Amino acid sequence: MENFTFWSPTEFVFGRGTELRTGELAARFGAHKIMIVSGGGSAERSGLLARIRKTLQDAGLEYVDFAGVRPNPVASKVYEGIGIARAEKADFLLAVGGGSVIDTAKAIALGAPADTDFWKFYNGEASPQKAMPVGVVLTIPAAGSEGSGNSVITNEKTLQKISVRYPMLLRPKFAVMNPELTMTLLANQTAYGIVDMLCHIYERYFSNTAGTEIVDGYSEAIMRDIMDQATTLHFQPDNYEARAEVMWGGMLAHNGLCGVGKVEDWSSHRLEHEISAIYDVPHGAGLAVIVPAWLKFCARHNPDKIWKFAINVMSVDPSGHDTDEIIAEGISRLEDFYHDLGLTTSLRELIGQEPDIETMVCSLERNMGPTLGNYVTLSMDDCREIYRMAL
Ligand code: NZQ
Ligand code: ZN
Repeated sequence: MENFTFWSPTEFVFGRGTELRTGELAARFGAHKIMIVSGGGSAERSGLLARIRKTLQDAGLEYVDFAGVRPNPVASKVYEGIGIARAEKADFLLAVGGGSVIDTAKAIALGAPADTDFWKFYNGEASPQKAMPVGVVLTIPAAGSEGSGNSVITNEKTLQKISVRYPMLLRPKFAVMNPELTMTLLANQTAYGIVDMLCHIYERYFSNTAGTEIVDGYSEAIMRDIMDQATTLHFQPDNYEARAEVMWGGMLAHNGLCGVGKVEDWSSHRLEHEISAIYDVPHGAGLAVIVPAWLKFCARHNPDKIWKFAINVMSVDPSGHDTDEIIAEGISRLEDFYHDLGLTTSLRELIGQEPDIETMVCSLERNMGPTLGNYVTLSMDDCREIYRMAL
């Protein structure tokens, strides 16, 4: 196991009706004037935003609304939010939504108090020294941003989708997690979220670090449970217990616990971010295309952990089969799982056209340098091959 520091200060308030505690929580974390960041309208239509505004009023807090964050959030919306946060003298950001809304709030949190262009904190030209506090009311379990120190923003001018990790600054102060709020999700949005949270565990599970049995053991348990609950939700979308398990699973998948002491990988995410940056598809849909291709490629070079995954997570019975057969069956079961959720594993089908693989590889190299990942270190030729395998 590698040395590590794990610091996760977020207060999680989980369960039915917990959004009614938002005002009390924000006040306790020092808010006076709150900027409520939200998405394209789902939280308004469901009445959630009205309930939250009332709890803020009851707690004696002022607020200003900042709505309209779109999926795969963009830099121009962050600049707009920075302007409003400054003009309104907001001292706290409340994200009501999923990863796109939370990540936009985090980017505003970095940009509003800084003299520097916020994008420089994403493209590596500058390091942030401070951030406004962020609180979350989560409405879709997927990105895990409610418990992570990460933020992912697309610069629509340069078509760069860049993920940053500043845990000391960006971990939310609190996250309200009411599984009931996720019952209005469309089936495909639930599915994208499940694919994404599982991949947050793969990125950490597929590691060459030795001596990580405890972490691997609970990572496998979380992956198995998320898959079981996903199947339940596919047939019973109103099942509260399954919604609750998936919501907590999505947080555990990405708050860092599954990666402690390990060298993590993150190739699948980097390969996917090029797809959603250029073709604007949901992140989870892109991952369903990339992960099987990445596993097949890596199995040729470093099969051990994929073999373990096939047996311990995909429940392949190893008796009487060689390593290649066990791995092939494990990956095939994972593909079937994605298909059962209604997702495609074909890149061409996902984007509805022939992908421009050369542009994707060029952009990947510009964003990440000449190699990617750690489980198998991928050259740009390898990345090109994985995109082709995903066609
Ligand atoms: O915008 P509204 O109208 O709210 O609709 C949203 C949006 O269309 C809808 N939705 C959310 N909650 C709902 C709901 N619809 C009905 N009922 C509800 N309760 O769902 C759609 C997708 O929302 P979005 O926030 O985009 O989803 P997600 O949480 O999957 O976030 C995706 C973004 O997060 C990034 C992704 O790349 C992508 O940009 N990621 C962020 C990470 C992080 N910060 O740690 C890690 C991830 O790997 C990921 O890259
Ligand atoms: Zn992700």
